Amino acid sequence: MDTEKNEFDFAARMKSAIEPARGVDDRDLRNAFSARLKQVAAKPDVVPIEFDGRRIEVRRGGTLLGAAMKNGVRLMHVCGARTLCATCRVVVESGEDNLTPMRGSEKFSLRWHLSVSPRTRLACQARVNGPVEVESVFPLCGELPNG
Ligand code: FES
Repeated sequence: MDTEKNEFDFAARMKSAIEPARGVDDRDLRNAFSARLKQVAAKPDVVPIEFDGRRIEVRRGGTLLGAAMKNGVRLMHVCGARTLCATCRVVVESGEDNLTPMRGSEKFSLRWHLSVSPRTRLACQARVNGPVEVESVFPLCGELPNG
């Protein structure tokens, strides 16, 4: 009962908030809002990162490996991002705070493969929240054929 009343009140408040106030010409504000919506829809939240000295963009929350592959950086990933091979290893030169914290499986994999540097991450597991600079540990496999 209370939930129904609360939902009804909430709907009424939302309706009054989006309806134009009588006598107020807010066309400019509406146009600016609509332009901003289009701008955001056209370019989702992207973060610039530097991968082996190459500046690329990644969707916020995406993995370093995904960003590399999408931008033609041919980083090895033998196990298919299952934390088994550690061939996607990268060294974080700067911005390590902008990566998601390391999970247990990533820590285990890095220890298993004797990567003792605290700046080493698996590109298939590290998700990007802000600008970072990384260098691949293994040599890249060359350019993608259509990249
Ligand atoms: S691709 Fe194998 S550990 Fe990342």
